[in-house]
Amino acid sequence: MYGDFDLIFEELSVMTRYQEIQHHLSENQYCWLITGVAGFIGSNLLEALLKLNQRVIGLDNFSTGYQHNLDQVSAIVGPEDWQNFKFVQGDIRDLETCRSVSRDIDFVLHQAALGSVPRSIDDPILTNESNVSGFLNMLVAARDAKAKRFVYAASSSTYGDHPDLPKIESVIGQPLSPYAVTKYVNELYADVFARCYETSSIGLRYFNVFGPRQDPDGAYAAVIPLWVSALIRNKPLYINGDGETSRDFCYIDNVVQANLLSALTTDKTAINQVYNVALNERTSLNQLYEMMHTLLLDKFPHLETHRPEYADFRDGDVRHSQADITKARRLLDFEPTHAIKEGLASAMDWYVADLSGRPDSRSSTQQSE
Ligand SMILES: NC(=O)c1ccc[n+]([C@@H]2O[C@H](COP(=O)([O-])OP(=O)(O)OC[C@H]3O[C@@H](n4cnc5c(N)ncnc54)[C@H](O)[C@@H]3O)[C@@H](O)[C@H]2O)c1
Repeated sequence: MYGDFDLIFEELSVMTRYQEIQHHLSENQYCWLITGVAGFIGSNLLEALLKLNQRVIGLDNFSTGYQHNLDQVSAIVGPEDWQNFKFVQGDIRDLETCRSVSRDIDFVLHQAALGSVPRSIDDPILTNESNVSGFLNMLVAARDAKAKRFVYAASSSTYGDHPDLPKIESVIGQPLSPYAVTKYVNELYADVFARCYETSSIGLRYFNVFGPRQDPDGAYAAVIPLWVSALIRNKPLYINGDGETSRDFCYIDNVVQANLLSALTTDKTAINQVYNVALNERTSLNQLYEMMHTLLLDKFPHLETHRPEYADFRDGDVRHSQADITKARRLLDFEPTHAIKEGLASAMDWYVADLSGRPDSRSSTQQSE
């Protein structure tokens, strides 16, 4: 499918698979479509691809994404690489929009969706429209455009109420939220498209992702930026439940890696599968608080006396989450480069700089997913 790819890989056998792929991309230009490109994960994928001299079309309706995320990527990559990017403001709920951005693309990285468990409980219809109807539109558009690969953002929420840890891809429970239903439906559609139309897709079940350009504001902000905001502003910080709820927090660079490995794998057994994308580490909210508190203490002496407050458990929340990443390691050669502490250390300067430039929009900070 990719010409002399295998030959090149043999010559570069001392590199990791991810390094090989980066090397290949830097010398071969493809056209990528990133949906949700103005969001947290989408804009990081954009940055990585532009740095590798790829051409990218980005689609976003700015429902939860921002122009300032695109502006930051533009400033980081510089004008020459930025020329390789074309942005289309549009909605995946419109099939014609999906078709028009999918023309002539090689790979799709489908990230556009309404995230957040509580948002889906508040408004299941809106969540379904983007996450299910929009997803189906994109699958159809990618199929008709004969995309080489459709890589999509699945979710750890698909494990639902299944108690086993760590989570293995083939063993899931009942969904605990409308959001979880939508993400599971994505997997079912991708699978059935492979059977009916021989499409080539890979679903990545992200666990709690964090890193630069993650939105700290809004009612559905994720826990890490929300807590950085509370800590640096010396605001009350609420932990939902007893703080022993745990997650497998995954730094954004690991997610970028999983996307590129998935797009470029030529291993037939690796295609039309879903994979956990995380670290196989479990961190409780209490531990997360301690790590963040320690990292910020040097810069913010007021934190000496800061302690978290405890609130009720939240509806729809899974108690514990930890990924088994054997499958991604084995079939995709996925090898996370950042553990949680390294990820927090890398991201902290960005979070602090970003939050320092924003008005304080909250009186208190209760965590979302
Ligand atoms: N961040 C995580 O921890 C996490 C975990 C599991 C799965 N995911 C999934 O990863 C993907 C990206 O998440 P994120 O954290 O970057 O969220 P995000 O909200 O920052 O990004 C989503 C982007 O999609 C866009 N979008 C939403 N609906 C759209 C529509 N109808 N048409 C066009 N654009 C639309 C938004 O404007 C936004 O820019 C989502 O599919 C999400 O469900 C994220």
